[in-house]
Amino acid sequence: MNDRSTDIKSMKLYHHIDRVMNELRELGKDDTGRLQVRELTSFDQLHYHGTGAVDYAIRATGIDEGTPVLEIGSGLGGPARYLALSAGADVTALELQEDHHLMASSLTERCGLDDRVEHLCGDFLTHPWHGARFQVIVSWLALYHIPQRNVLLQRCRSLLEDDGFIHAEDLYERGPFDDLEKAELASELFANYLPNRNQYRMDLVDAGFELVVFEDMSEDWAAFTHDRLNSYLDQRERHLRVHGEEVFDTMCAFYDTMVRLFSSGKLGGIRVVARRT
Ligand SMILES: C[S@@+](CC[C@H](N)C(=O)[O-])C[C@H]1O[C@@H](n2cnc3c(N)ncnc32)[C@H](O)[C@@H]1O
Repeated sequence: MNDRSTDIKSMKLYHHIDRVMNELRELGKDDTGRLQVRELTSFDQLHYHGTGAVDYAIRATGIDEGTPVLEIGSGLGGPARYLALSAGADVTALELQEDHHLMASSLTERCGLDDRVEHLCGDFLTHPWHGARFQVIVSWLALYHIPQRNVLLQRCRSLLEDDGFIHAEDLYERGPFDDLEKAELASELFANYLPNRNQYRMDLVDAGFELVVFEDMSEDWAAFTHDRLNSYLDQRERHLRVHGEEVFDTMCAFYDTMVRLFSSGKLGGIRVVARRT
C-alpha cells in the first residue's frame, strides 16, 4: 500500500529528528523545560531564509492578531510558532510525519504557545476538517511533496473564507528533467508534483484563485543553498561535536543535492500569493 508518511523518509532531510534534541542540549536545555521561540529558529525552519520568509507571508496576506491560519506541511512547527508569536495568529499546523508532528507539539508546548498553535498529524489530501475555515493557508516547501494538485487546490479553496489567501513557497520544473533526474527527484526530494511555471499558474487559476504574487525564487534559492552548504562545511567541527558523523554526513549529502539541482537550472523555486475568487 502507498503510505506517504513512510515513503517520504527517502528524503535525507527527514532522517534525523534527533538533530533537534542535540541542538537543545548544545543550548544548555534539559529535555522538558521552558523554551523561547527565538532560541529555536536557527534549526526549526525547514525552508529558505528562515523567519524572514515567514515575515514576508505575514505582510503579503495581512496575517494579524487572531487570524485563522492553516499551515500545510508544518514540519517541526517553526513557522507556525513564529506566526503565532510575531503576528498573534491562530494557527492550525498539519504535518504528515508523526515523529515531526510529536516533536513540533512538544516544542510548541514548551514555548507556551499551545493555546495559539494546534498541531494535527495527517495527510492534507485526506485529513477530515469538519467544517473548519481559514483566512490564510500557508506552506513552505511542502506542496511539491503532494500529488493530485487539483484535489489539493479544491481542498484549499473549500477551507478558505471567501476573500482568503494561499501563500506558498514551492518547487517547480524550470527545465525539462530526464528520466534519471525524475527518479532522483522522486526519491531524494520525494517530489510528487513538479509542474512547469505555466502549468503551476494555470492550476491555480483553474481552481479559482487570482494570482497576486508569482515570483521566481530560483536564482535566490540557488545562492542560498550554495551558501548553506559552505557554511555547514565551515562549521564541520562544531556539527560533528553536536550531532556526530552520521547526521553530519546525511545533512551534507542533502545540502549538496540541493545545490546541484538548483545550479543545474532545471529545478526552480516559486513564491505564490493567490486570492480565492
Ligand atoms: C521541507 S518541510 C517544511 C516544513 C515547514 N513548512 C518549514 O518550513 O519549516 C515539508 C513538510 O511537509 C510535510 N508534508 C509532506 N506531504 C504532506 C502531506 N500530504 N500532508 C501534510 N504534510 C505533508 C513533510 O512531512 C515535511 O515535514
